[in-house]
Amino acid sequence: MTSPNAPHADRYPAGSAAFPQRDLIALAGLAPWEILFLLDEAEQWVELNRQPHKRDDRLAGLTIINAFFENSTRTLLSFEIAGKRLGADVVNMLVAQSSVKKGETLIDTAMTLNAMHADAMVIRHQSSGAVRLIAEKVDCPVLNAGDGQHEHPTQGLLDALTIRKAKGEFAGLTITICGDILHSRVARSNIHCLTTLGAEVRVCAPPALMPADIEALKVRPYYDFDAALAGADVVMMLRLQQERMSGQFIPSPREYRHLYGLTLDRLARAKGDALVMHPGPMNRGIEIDSNVADLPGRSAITAQVEMGVAIRMACLDVLTRRSRKVEGWA
Ligand code: CP
Repeated sequence: MTSPNAPHADRYPAGSAAFPQRDLIALAGLAPWEILFLLDEAEQWVELNRQPHKRDDRLAGLTIINAFFENSTRTLLSFEIAGKRLGADVVNMLVAQSSVKKGETLIDTAMTLNAMHADAMVIRHQSSGAVRLIAEKVDCPVLNAGDGQHEHPTQGLLDALTIRKAKGEFAGLTITICGDILHSRVARSNIHCLTTLGAEVRVCAPPALMPADIEALKVRPYYDFDAALAGADVVMMLRLQQERMSGQFIPSPREYRHLYGLTLDRLARAKGDALVMHPGPMNRGIEIDSNVADLPGRSAITAQVEMGVAIRMACLDVLTRRSRKVEGWA
């Protein structure tokens, strides 16, 4: 089953031992070889997605339900495209039009979807831990599309694939993540992923937006953005997550941009070929200037979106191998 584009195939075991998890809830706790296996599996889908005919029917006959309790553009659409390109029937449950609005509980909603014999569920929810709770109740693999401030594992994987394609090996790379670290599930998944793969990760935020226990995640905290940028190979900017803030965390957007916004002048402090990343959606002119976000040869923001479809194809393929009785995965 290993892709011919698998550059690290000698680093993980064969068959289901390469990724023994039933669900994909978090990147915390995954072994480096489990992450490398998913990145390698995605390579074949990067290639397929660049062809005029983007179709492989290995999931034909399977039903995938995307249940998004929070808004999304990139994650919802890329999971839908991923499932369809693999031949599955994909159904999106949009909460605004669902019986959640009539007061149905999370568990009752999950059990209702389970009774429809889904073969995989992709869940986004505003509460940290909600996706794991659903995974414990249903019969099929569950993929976390972002739960509260906890994790966004496919975002971490697609970011790692983007970095690997631009920079190669992770060991020796310095990656600076700047923004609302406190509320960011993207930051948490990236920290777990990139430190597990051997990169040095710096995190930078105003003191009010830095988690108190951040050093336990094996990263170095910075409060001065210029210092955090010095010599970085990759600069990943994050949005202020206003929807998760109660109270005032920054003096004003203008002050925030002055101290923590990525401008062309600031980018010059990183390495001359430093990659610029942002998971989106962006607040242009606050955490990142347009002339940086759109900088040819340096901005990887659209590449991140492209890698997102490939990573989600890989995750859907791998997590359904047991139910499809793929050789070595039964
Ligand atoms: N990066 C990301 O999760 O974007 P969406 O909220 O649009 O899915």
